[in-house]
Amino acid sequence: MQNLKEYITHPVFKEIGKISDLMGVETYVVGGFVRDILLGRKKEVFDVDVVTVGSGIDLATKVAASLRPGLKVSVFHNFGTAMFKYGDIDFEFVGARRESYRSESRKPIVEDGTLEDDQKRRDFTINALAISLNSDRFGELLDPFNGVLDLENKILRTPLAPEITFSDDPLRMMRAIRFATQLDFIIEENTLEAIETQCKRIEIVSKERISDEINKIMLSPKPSVGFKLLEKTGLLAIILPEVQKLKGRETVNGIGHKDNFYHTLEVLDRICKNTDNLWLRWSALLHDIAKPVTKRFDPKLGWTFHAHNFVGEKMVPRMFDRLKLPLNEKCKYVQKMVSLHMRPIVLSEEEVTDSAVRRLLFDAGDDIDDLMTLCEADITSKNPDKVIKYLANFQLVRDKLKDIEERDALRNFQPPVTGELIMETFGLSPCREIGIIKSAIKEAILEGEIRNNYDEAYQYMLAKGMELGLTVKGN
Ligand code: CTP
Repeated sequence: MQNLKEYITHPVFKEIGKISDLMGVETYVVGGFVRDILLGRKKEVFDVDVVTVGSGIDLATKVAASLRPGLKVSVFHNFGTAMFKYGDIDFEFVGARRESYRSESRKPIVEDGTLEDDQKRRDFTINALAISLNSDRFGELLDPFNGVLDLENKILRTPLAPEITFSDDPLRMMRAIRFATQLDFIIEENTLEAIETQCKRIEIVSKERISDEINKIMLSPKPSVGFKLLEKTGLLAIILPEVQKLKGRETVNGIGHKDNFYHTLEVLDRICKNTDNLWLRWSALLHDIAKPVTKRFDPKLGWTFHAHNFVGEKMVPRMFDRLKLPLNEKCKYVQKMVSLHMRPIVLSEEEVTDSAVRRLLFDAGDDIDDLMTLCEADITSKNPDKVIKYLANFQLVRDKLKDIEERDALRNFQPPVTGELIMETFGLSPCREIGIIKSAIKEAILEGEIRNNYDEAYQYMLAKGMELGLTVKGN
């Protein structure tokens, strides 16, 4: 029997063992913590799940009191669980349970059980490993479902028949795909099949939990692994129907278009090499989201996706709302990225003029670097000559951006002449002319007719005012 005591050196483990001995109960550390020890996986924040064949609440309370009088214990009587934080680690305690779930909800019917009862009701064999904490068996590994072998072979498999495990908690179907993506594991055949047959049951799971799993897939090194599995199992069509609709290619008069699902996944994997920003990764997933709804076949032009960036921009908040993702500035950021995603590439296809670069900088503001990262990831043509040409032009756009930014300070543009100054200069009350003059000044700066400074903008305002028949107050 393998002994892992060298990995559980944290003083809290010894204390849990000691108190369990005194209480006469068996106690184990289980779940992800054990899995990650065996995988040698380093995590910045982690929590520790402790199972006792007795009352989890009593054990947590006694361990906390013995560690430090006054250490706060949070108790959840409904679930029979308790937890405390020690240093920066959360220790969560639960009594070993036999558990089954009602089909229409995730609320379990709970009965006390043995350690093995508890292990077999867990999601995957690799998460059902336990290490004993009692002093006579401290560090002993208990692995009734061959989880260690599955870890070695990189396989996700349920301890019970997968239909039972997934029916108990359908979120586990998403967890299987998430672990497969994060850890680069294969989902065992019957387990995968059970996800396909039960995918509809994901509908009873809360949107927050589903989105949490999607976000974990998104933050993995190669999210396409997860999205392909979501698609194959039928889950994608339920949780992200808009992304599902990107799949497929149509041909009319012998002219086909690319499969936007696989293109999107390529862009997503590519951007992951350059950013850990979850919302920039979401922007990559959604950049072409409106292609299916804007798709037309024009006998002269072939396939068009007219204004798919603007239609996509409008789809983003609807999707975020449904998925209970934040509707704050994160959503606005993704909208902006989707709306602008073609601008740098369109620029690099033509001659790169200063005014076009200025406009891009004006519209993207502080997000210009992220937009360039997205756009560069979007260059996935099969034709290597095209890619080389695009990338070279793209470098030109980057150089110009840098140059213009240094000269014109256009990022987060603030008008050098305010509406108040216009009113004061021409003795106006609020009226249309103020807006006209303001936007004329902005246009003149973007076109490079004047520079972005007070003096030139002031002179321009005077000239424009006169053109509109206004007179300077006091003259
Ligand atoms: N678990 C389960 N079914 C779920 C959620 C969790 O069986 N739907 C069990 C698994 O044994 C899991 C443990 O509870 O290992 C802890 O769950 P959690 O903290 O959500 O996940 P971890 O496995 O620790 O992994 P991670 O922290 O990477 O999410």
